[in-house]
Amino acid sequence: MTVPYDVIVIGSGAAGLTAALALAAHRRVLVLAKGTLTGGSTAWAQGGIAAVLDAGDTFEDHIRDTMIAGAGLNRLETVEFVIENAPAAIDRLIELGVPFNKDSGTLHLTREGGHSHRRIVHVDDATGWAVQEALLRAAEANANITMLPGRACIDLITGRNAEKYSGSGRVWGVYALDEATGRVEAHVARATVLATGGAGRVYQFSTAPRGATGDGIAMAWRAGARVSNMEMMQFHPTCLYNLEVKNFLITEAVRGEGGLLRNPKTGERYMPTYDERAELAPRDIVARANDDQIKRHGLDFVHLDISHLAPEFVREHFPNIDEKLISLGIDMTKEPIPVVPAQHYTCGGVLIGLDARTDLPGLWAAGEVSESGLHGANRLASNSLLECFVFGEAAAKDILAVWDEMDDPPPIREWDESRVTDSDEEVVIKQNWTEIRRFMWNYVGIVRTTKRLERAAHRIETLAQEIEDYYGSFRVTTDLIELRNLHQCADLIVRSALRRHESRGLHFILDYPETDAVARDTVLVP
Ligand code: FAD
Ligand code: SIN
Repeated sequence: MTVPYDVIVIGSGAAGLTAALALAAHRRVLVLAKGTLTGGSTAWAQGGIAAVLDAGDTFEDHIRDTMIAGAGLNRLETVEFVIENAPAAIDRLIELGVPFNKDSGTLHLTREGGHSHRRIVHVDDATGWAVQEALLRAAEANANITMLPGRACIDLITGRNAEKYSGSGRVWGVYALDEATGRVEAHVARATVLATGGAGRVYQFSTAPRGATGDGIAMAWRAGARVSNMEMMQFHPTCLYNLEVKNFLITEAVRGEGGLLRNPKTGERYMPTYDERAELAPRDIVARANDDQIKRHGLDFVHLDISHLAPEFVREHFPNIDEKLISLGIDMTKEPIPVVPAQHYTCGGVLIGLDARTDLPGLWAAGEVSESGLHGANRLASNSLLECFVFGEAAAKDILAVWDEMDDPPPIREWDESRVTDSDEEVVIKQNWTEIRRFMWNYVGIVRTTKRLERAAHRIETLAQEIEDYYGSFRVTTDLIELRNLHQCADLIVRSALRRHESRGLHFILDYPETDAVARDTVLVP
């Protein structure tokens, strides 16, 4: 069978495009993306990318900071691998034309929570947009890369979908909905890279874009891959509190450059009473402190205040945040910013090795969809874009290395729509989507209890049949695909959380407040 592409990359963010560019030197690559090509979290990243680039900094320090933030759950060999490859990743981005800020000719490094050193390269306070643009420019200029936006991938194609059935679990591509025509197409290739980002939208309040519905995690799980540490959902301490703009992040670099957290009723700076590192403690600690202040004092928000610094300094460092806040009537150079914690990053995901291989032959994964061992129980700020670049490259290298050992795809069955009709009850999707996000926020949030987790598990079970019935009866739409995946991810998060009988990093549970002496991953086997 002749297929037009050698490799399919699902996702056009930092991980997907890094893999595509590295593969395209030798192979024909198809990149599929839901919605637009800039719809992932990459374009929204603010603070920057962590790398040891300063003479006084060391790999050992970056490794130690990553392990401390990750509460020891990180896999040391992954942490070393990523951090030691970071400077080369930054060099590649500079070659692609990312205009990182400079100070007297050298890269300007900012600081964020949990970092013992200034080590974050950035492009003002909109690093992700600059990175996304540079990667897209390079991909568009590459004749070996074809990009198809508007393709919502539904399920991985495995041996089970081959005309000659095989139960091997070998992945041969993906079925995807063409969002413009409503048709489902089979995209087939020798190798598939999953780079679909996180599952943040499983929560009611999240800094992540609308499409962060855990599609890749759910697809890999359904196809038979293990997922790990799904209970480790990261909450960012400072999302703007605004009744109209629900998910605007105020970068951690604001605290890195001197911003302070205060109780809005008393004006008191409270972080030093929670942790000796105060506002620069790792994210889980600051998010819990903000949550505690809000709950203890019956507040709607806390204040993040940088108005004590010179207005020119603030505007120069945070031009995009300043502009956004001014449009909402807040002048951060003169007054504090109201902020609340919100879901921000999915630390768990599809289990991969240093070569980005998943459990399934033919399937690699990179970026936020994966659990590589880098972040452990809590991601260190600005380590995630870095992970995308290092593992995007690792996936490409491994695919090229084993290329000749892989077979060509067998004939694959077309998507079967013979038993479904158009939905006449879209309200079911909206209702279930809202319900999942609400109970996940209320029962599986920053501070957990077994009782609340059990309540969430019960709701998930009740919804399962309704969603599967709906999925089995109606033609797929992007909303339905996402609902099914959100439900799947909620289930994986709650099951993982119920398995961990300790508090560690992002998983803080009142029934088990102590941390076990030995750190163990929560690995779910399909
Ligand atoms: P994404 O960039 O999220 O891309 C996912 C891609 O997959 C998209 O193209 C999407 O369309 C596609 N996709 C998803 N589902 C499907 C499907 N079913 N079918 C087809 N395509 C699909 N990290 C840092 O290191 N530094 C920062 O400063 C920083 N700031 C952040 C600020 C915000 C507001 C947010 C939300 C995150 C931030 N992060 C930061 C985290 C970081 O941005 C992400 O972890 C990273 O960009 C993830 O990249 P990715 O390539 O894995 O996925
Ligand atoms: C931020 O800019 O605060 C986000 C950084 C990150 O998520 O790593």
